[in-house]
Amino acid sequence: LGNGPLRGRRIVVTSGPTHEPIDPVRYIANRSSGAQGAAIGAALAALGAEVIFVTGPAEVPPPAGVEVVAVDTAAEMRAAVHEALPADAAIFAAAVADWRMKTARAEKIKKTPDGLPDLALEENPDILAEVAAGPDRPGLVVGFAAETENVVENATAKRARKGCDWILANDVSPATGIMGGRDNAVTLITDEGAEAWERMGKDAVARRLAERVARALGPVGAA
Ligand code: C5P
Repeated sequence: LGNGPLRGRRIVVTSGPTHEPIDPVRYIANRSSGAQGAAIGAALAALGAEVIFVTGPAEVPPPAGVEVVAVDTAAEMRAAVHEALPADAAIFAAAVADWRMKTARAEKIKKTPDGLPDLALEENPDILAEVAAGPDRPGLVVGFAAETENVVENATAKRARKGCDWILANDVSPATGIMGGRDNAVTLITDEGAEAWERMGKDAVARRLAERVARALGPVGAA
């Protein structure tokens, strides 16, 4: 194991959802189970990489053999990712909440007869886009695009907009059963175009991705 092709490589992986507090008992979240991210962490570690696994509150436990950094919010995830850089590669499998409360309330919001609470939101930082444009940019930056329509078109545009090298696009329409399920059907989008992978288990997707990462990074010490 310690002699795999990723030995000597440091790789940051984000995984899971984030939870954005509304008040002490409520939060904004999403349906990410963290299964695909955990499988990717495991597959990279199995090829010998040193994996810094930055995870939100996922349903699936983090894999063995990685350095786990547990966070709740997008802001915490961002800080942990920057802290973990520099790295040879970064894989952003987390489903980061797009929005957070402008001001999370310190006390539980009470139901009152005189109207609904003010839940004004603001945008979370885009961790992937920031890292891809930043001074510590890893040589290989990989993002995910969970789409429900026009999957390849949207993901191709997203790759350009975010400045990442690869995007793994997946169709998360409820009918696919992918979100929270065991299988995944992804399309790998690189500068060479789109490559549809057959539907397979999330573990198999992760192994295939880890092998591609190893190939792209090449042997340690090579240019
Ligand atoms: O824009 P969208 O959320 O669809 O982009 C998905 C990709 O960007 C994923 O790789 C996700 O981990 C990353 N992302 C991020 N920070 C955000 C939003 C998304 O790193 N705030």
